Amino acid sequence: MTPDPHEGRHHGDNRQGVGHILMADIMNVNALDPAQQRAAAATGNIQLVLAGPGSGKTTTLAGRFVHLVGQGVDRTRILALTFTRKAADEMKSRIAAALDLPSAADMSVATFHGFAFRHLRRNPQLAGLSERFQLWDTPQQRHIFSSRRMWWNEDADILEIIAGAKERLLDAAGFAAEIQPDDEVLRRALEFFRVYENALRDAGAIDFADIVPLLVRAMDRKPGYAAAITGAYDHVLVDEYQDINPGQVELVDRFVAAGVSLWAVGDDDQTLYAFRAADVEDELLCAEFQAGKAIAAIAAAHERKIAAITARLIRLGLITEDGVVAEDGVVRPG
Ligand SMILES: Nc1ncnc2c1ncn2[C@@H]1O[C@H](COP(=O)(O)OP(=O)(O)O)[C@@H](O)[C@H]1O
Ligand SMILES: [Mg+2]
Repeated sequence: MTPDPHEGRHHGDNRQGVGHILMADIMNVNALDPAQQRAAAATGNIQLVLAGPGSGKTTTLAGRFVHLVGQGVDRTRILALTFTRKAADEMKSRIAAALDLPSAADMSVATFHGFAFRHLRRNPQLAGLSERFQLWDTPQQRHIFSSRRMWWNEDADILEIIAGAKERLLDAAGFAAEIQPDDEVLRRALEFFRVYENALRDAGAIDFADIVPLLVRAMDRKPGYAAAITGAYDHVLVDEYQDINPGQVELVDRFVAAGVSLWAVGDDDQTLYAFRAADVEDELLCAEFQAGKAIAAIAAAHERKIAAITARLIRLGLITEDGVVAEDGVVRPG
């Protein structure tokens, strides 16, 4: 199947659909406090809202959804993403309740994996997969090694090492380029990775960590496919943004690059997803931020707390104290 041309994006025309619903009516259902309300109604193309646990982040995301619908955005053109099934279900019911709908069935509220997997199933050949590709679960993954009498005896789980590399968009060759020659454990992990990669390929199977990177690569190979995916939405909302990994950042970046607005909420009290990569230079941070890639820049600055990044953005003069967390919890350029 080729991408549906009818999914094409009508840029700048997102005020169709449910414009008859009055903001006042909807907001009564929700009752966001003033800071949440400001965050929900923020106008930038990229917004990162920072707040602590239990402070109402998911509530505010649901409020953002309601706000957009109140502004006339078609609710099916809003993509809301998070990381776990449980969080996605919660987000879905909060949004449905906030919109006073019986269900969120016609809306795109999903996990990153669920969203990407649906696309892979729909167009497997575009990702280089066979029509009936399998998604292997943990026992099937472990069987690759046990059936070959390969035993891994280190503390760190070999499947986690492999998944960690894949989440950083590395295949076995990329992983090989990254490890130190004198790191015995990782050199052995590389052997396992190669065997694993071949076994998966021979079986025409993928694993959980492949899902998002496979979609991103397919989008990069076929701009028309990328346009069909990103063109289906005007807004992407992300909950639990502190949990994002590099592959997921890449997916979000494809939407941002296509002109889709990004609004994300994250916990400023938790460490960002940690991954080993070159440190992000201030210069790069500046460039990305000024290019409107605030979120990606922030996520790329791995192993730092969002609050530390925020301090850095202030120091670099990219944002002012007033623009940050202070009242509305929104980080924005300028
Ligand atoms: N403005 C509000 N008015 C009333 N209750 C709220 C408000 N904001 C959040 N809550 C409640 O606080 C609790 C935590 O909110 P939640 O959005 O889940 O926080 P977080 O996502 O930051 O963990 C929930 O029970 C939620 O209903
Ligand atoms: Mg939450």
